[in-house]
Amino acid sequence: MTAVIRPGRDTDEADYIRLIGDAWSEYPNCILDVDGEVPELRALESYFAKAGGALWVAEEEDRAVGMVATRPLGSDNAWEICKMYVEKSQRGTGLAHRLLGGAEEHAIRAGAQRIVLWTDTRFDAAHKFYEKRSYVRSGSIRILDDISKSLEFRYAKPARGVVVEALDAAAAASAERRLADILVACVDAGASVSYLPPLAVETARTFWRKVSGEVAMGNRLLLVAWVDGRMAGTVQLDLATPPNQRHRAELAKLLVHPDFRRNGIGRALMQRAEQAARGIGRTLLTLDTRAGDAGEVLYRELGWQEGGRIPGFAADSDGKLHDTVFFYKKV
Ligand SMILES: CC(C)(COP(=O)(O)OP(=O)(O)OC[C@H]1O[C@@H](n2cnc3c(N)ncnc32)[C@H](O)[C@@H]1OP(=O)(O)O)[C@@H](O)C(=O)NCCC(=O)NCCS
Repeated sequence: MTAVIRPGRDTDEADYIRLIGDAWSEYPNCILDVDGEVPELRALESYFAKAGGALWVAEEEDRAVGMVATRPLGSDNAWEICKMYVEKSQRGTGLAHRLLGGAEEHAIRAGAQRIVLWTDTRFDAAHKFYEKRSYVRSGSIRILDDISKSLEFRYAKPARGVVVEALDAAAAASAERRLADILVACVDAGASVSYLPPLAVETARTFWRKVSGEVAMGNRLLLVAWVDGRMAGTVQLDLATPPNQRHRAELAKLLVHPDFRRNGIGRALMQRAEQAARGIGRTLLTLDTRAGDAGEVLYRELGWQEGGRIPGFAADSDGKLHDTVFFYKKV
């Protein structure tokens, strides 16, 4: 039986309190004090209507099994996702995706450019869910003076269009899961990017963990592209060049998920990476790519110069050796 999603009403008060209270009670010292700290639960539809937002409830056999809300934040065209709760029995059924997807759609239709949310640092299952939905950690940890002594992560993502951003260390760490999916999909589709298929997700995650560590050290810039709120591609600038090459950076791991190819994402990532390099004084960029790949066409189109080619440089999954072309560009 599939739960039906309908607008939430003030009279669903008892359901909101049960859903949120049950979810909080899964974590130690997480206490819901409705009248002391969350009085809006007494009339939640009115609360979100007054804020210009909206609220939904998922119902199965006349029983509320999930909820979500959204409201405009009044600055930066950002909307916030709030009160995202799904009953334990419904987790893993896709209901959470339907609820959040619906709330995101509402916010985007109303003009949201960015979607943000706050989540308790203890709610690790929720973090995985938001990260899967392409949100990244963004900004400081909020410390609430409530009875649960809550600390909260802020997550955010661009909501619409093609947006490329450079991630800081916290954002990079929170992007590991989605970036691992992109790397695995690219390797499975035959990309020549150090790994051979089948690439285990854990191996891919270990790779991205190392990258976020290097971002934290200032040795790497990590750029990510979102397409209509979905993380679709990435590229890196390796800045750990020797002391006599501080004007140089190596461009690496340009990856666009196969579902998003031929839509200009690769080009957008390259252009932003070049712009970012210029901005930090890295005026000579280098990269290498398997000869004959889509990347080679793209780099030439963007004005990269071939510096040379090494025959039989890297093997494919059948063990066949391929040439690698080395490129450079002054930016
Ligand atoms: C290379 C890659 C990043 C390109 O991403 P993309 O988002 O599909 O690229 P774009 O849509 O921005 O393409 C820009 C231009 O590159 C060229 N191009 C891209 N894919 C191409 C292909 N399969 N064949 C020929 N040209 C191609 C075209 O000139 C294209 O412009 P057009 O679409 O207007 O014709 C993507 O194919 C990928 O992730 N490949 C696997 C990983 C990889 O090989 N990375 C390079 C490592 S060095």
